Amino acid sequence: MRLISGKEMLEKARAEGYAVGAFSAHNAEMIQAILWAAEEEKAPVMIQVGQRAIRYMGMEAMADMIESFGRHTGVTVAIHLDHGNSFEQVMQAMQLRFQSVMYDGSHYPLEKNIELTKKVAEAAHAVGVSVEGELGRIGGTEDDLTVSEEDAFLTDPDEAVRFVEETGVDSLAVAIGTAHGFYKGVPKLNFTRLEQIRDAVAIPLVLHGGSGVPDDMIRKAISLGIAKVNVDTELRHAFAEAAQKVWHDDPEQCHLAVVLGAAREAVKRKVAEKIRLFGSSGKA
Ligand code: 13P
Repeated sequence: MRLISGKEMLEKARAEGYAVGAFSAHNAEMIQAILWAAEEEKAPVMIQVGQRAIRYMGMEAMADMIESFGRHTGVTVAIHLDHGNSFEQVMQAMQLRFQSVMYDGSHYPLEKNIELTKKVAEAAHAVGVSVEGELGRIGGTEDDLTVSEEDAFLTDPDEAVRFVEETGVDSLAVAIGTAHGFYKGVPKLNFTRLEQIRDAVAIPLVLHGGSGVPDDMIRKAISLGIAKVNVDTELRHAFAEAAQKVWHDDPEQCHLAVVLGAAREAVKRKVAEKIRLFGSSGKA
């Protein structure tokens, strides 16, 4: 496994017009599924460790498992902290040799978001770790945080210029109409806004809430500067559905290798499908 910085991975994607899949892992099987799909597709990937996985598995255990399962693969990976919620948590991820961290200060007023993200970026850059910041408010439910439709708002291009300049972040998560979790109807993405942000800032842009967005919208977003797409819900759904099917078809089944093996296969298929959609096959 080749571990490279998030900045290097995303700048190449931006320059070549594809997006890196940033896949959220929650357990051993999901880590393996992501690594194996990336290996088959010869694609660079980010394996994201989010707040739920941290509470459920522990950040250190996740990092150790990724390194252990990845050791005998040739995959190009950046281990990424998703929605880092404090300076201390980001420091912990860096100590555990993550290559990329997100600090999410999007719920603060702009000034405070800038102040806190800048502090994280200075510390991370001192040891070669890349930083993703977020501006605007992405709707939906992620871990324990729910942002209602009324509270969600799009990223302002002028604020984005200021945020990127003053914080020094390496990539920027933008709010353009996607939401975490599945959508009730077809999501409405504001491509004009995305284009304005793309023209205003010269760093890779990140799309959160990748699950359930129609393929043509994902392709269009990538053509307009999105270089990283986060996917979580669709993977968890694939995992749970496959496990349920085994138990439904064979209620006595209690070999975890059978149940979780089927779930792992389903996640692997979904990750490979997303990698092809994002255009990152063969880019490792
Ligand atoms: P989904 O759960 O909608 O795929 O969003 C994932 C995400 O953005 C993680 O940060």
